[in-house]
Formats: sequence, structure tokens, C-alpha cells
Amino acid sequence: MTMNRKPVRKAVLPAAGLGTRFLPATKAQPKEMLPVVDKPLIQYAVEECVASGIENVIIVTGRGKNAIEDHFDASPELERFLAEKGKTQLADMIRQISDMVHISYIRQKEAKGLGDAVLTAKELVGDEPFAVLLGDVIIDAVPSATRQLMDAYDATGLGAIAVEPVAMDQIHLYGVVDGEPATGPHASDRLLRVRNLVEKPKKEDAPSNLGITGRYVLPPEIFSCLERTTVGSGGEIQLTDGLRLLAKEQGLLAYRYEGRSYDAGDKLGFLKATVEIALKNEEFGEEFRAYLKSLSL
Ligand code: G1P
Repeated sequence: MTMNRKPVRKAVLPAAGLGTRFLPATKAQPKEMLPVVDKPLIQYAVEECVASGIENVIIVTGRGKNAIEDHFDASPELERFLAEKGKTQLADMIRQISDMVHISYIRQKEAKGLGDAVLTAKELVGDEPFAVLLGDVIIDAVPSATRQLMDAYDATGLGAIAVEPVAMDQIHLYGVVDGEPATGPHASDRLLRVRNLVEKPKKEDAPSNLGITGRYVLPPEIFSCLERTTVGSGGEIQLTDGLRLLAKEQGLLAYRYEGRSYDAGDKLGFLKATVEIALKNEEFGEEFRAYLKSLSL
């Protein structure tokens, strides 16, 4: 049954937002380039693509985002300089960033919302399933969260979105899923069939505590859904609203992925992600832990 299903080879990384939650840091610098410990946010998402077996990454950019392209481009002068100084490990690491995966760029002309950003990639994706990764969210998981969704898609042929339980006082920051346990041969306690989705509901209107966690694997039919999606929450074209149509017309799964997410999408979340990821750093994690303890807050 899965024989003729097209494999998931491509991923779309929306990176055209204005980064208003990080002003003034993002006045002249893309949010996606803010470093968490030693890597820009967007590199975590690109590395997750590579770990998931994605072959083509499509980054949706906009004005003022050139640093992203430069980051993933080759840097022959820097590589030569490092090699001449005998810093071969660093030179290799720099080369790997540009060799990791094939990346294409497309510009969203106006920041009209996440749904519109995904729709911008329609021609580059073509008629095949694809992943979407929101770079604000770093997910520590093996297999990767994207891979877990790809496996759900491969098994069922239905789009799958990552969800996790969220504290109710934070639920208004998420797309929220109303789901029922999936039935049939692929039923598991992690898999839900989506009945409805609401973008950023008030606590009292939230259909559950399951928030969408920034990873999606979608069939190409989502594009026709997004073309029919009108302005929603925050005056933007929301991916969540397009997904509601997809759920109705074709079916959609929500998957409670296994792993740990860090939402670096606002200043506090970013600080928490930085501290937690720094604590795991092999080189200086222990020293950093000792330092935090010494602060005796
Ligand atoms: C976006 C999505 C939302 C999702 C969230 C995850 O919102 O619109 O459905 O739950 O990412 O981080 P944003 O955080 O970009 O406002």
C-alpha cells in the first residue's frame, strides 16, 4: 500500500518574519541568526533536516535576511585562513555547514503570515509531500521530531503535525489541536486524528492542552488549502487555518512526538533554551553548571 507513495525529500523553513519579539536585537539582524550557545537558531533546524534524511531545504526569506544565505554559503577565504593557521578542525566544521545539504531560497515579498510563507514555496516543493520546520523551536529527539512525523506519513499517507502538552497559561501562544485517538493498523497512544485546530485560542476556548510544536509533514494538497485560507489570528494568513481545511478534506494526524522542545521564539524562551543547551555542552557544560550554582540565586 505504501509502495507508490512519494517519499518526503524536501523541507520548508520559514524565515521571513520581522522578529519583532526580539527587538532591538533584530533591528538589523535576522532573528534566525541569533546564536543559541554557538550556532545560529536556523542551523539547528537545518541539522534536524539532515538528521531526518531530507535532501532539499527551502528557506523562505525576505528583506534583510542575506546573512542566512551567507551563513550556509562556502567561505573559501575563512577556510584557507584557518587551514594555514593549522586550525583544521575549525576549517572542517566551517566547510560542513555549506556542504550539509542542498539549500534553495525564495523570498516572501511581505510578511503576511506563516501560511503565506509556506505557500510561497509551492513551486519549489512541487507535487510531493514535504516537511515544515519552524526555527524558533529547537527539538532534542532521537529519531528527530521531523523523522517521527515522516514515519507517520510513510505509514498512513496522511499529513502529520507534532504536538505536545502545554501549560494552560501558555496555550494562547500556540496552535491547538482537537483530536481523537487514531484507529486502524497504525493506532498508537501517540497518534491522534485531528478533528479541528484553533490558532492561539484564549484559555477558555482551547479545545485541549495539545499545542502544535513547530514541525509538520504535509501532503502537497496543503497548498490548495492555503490558497483558500483568509486572514486569521493576528491579521495574518495562518498555517493552522490551512491545516483545518486539510483535516476536513483529506484527514490529518497529530503526533505526540518523543523528545524535548525548547521554544526560543521570545526573549525568555530564548534565554531558557540557551541555558539548557549550554548545560549539555560537552566542552564547558559542567563549568557552566558550577557557575550557575555559584550565583546562589
Ligand atoms: C507558530 C504557529 C503555531 C505554533 C507555534 C509553535 O506560532 O502559528 O500554531 O503552535 O508556531 O511555536 P508563532 O510562535 O510563530 O507565533
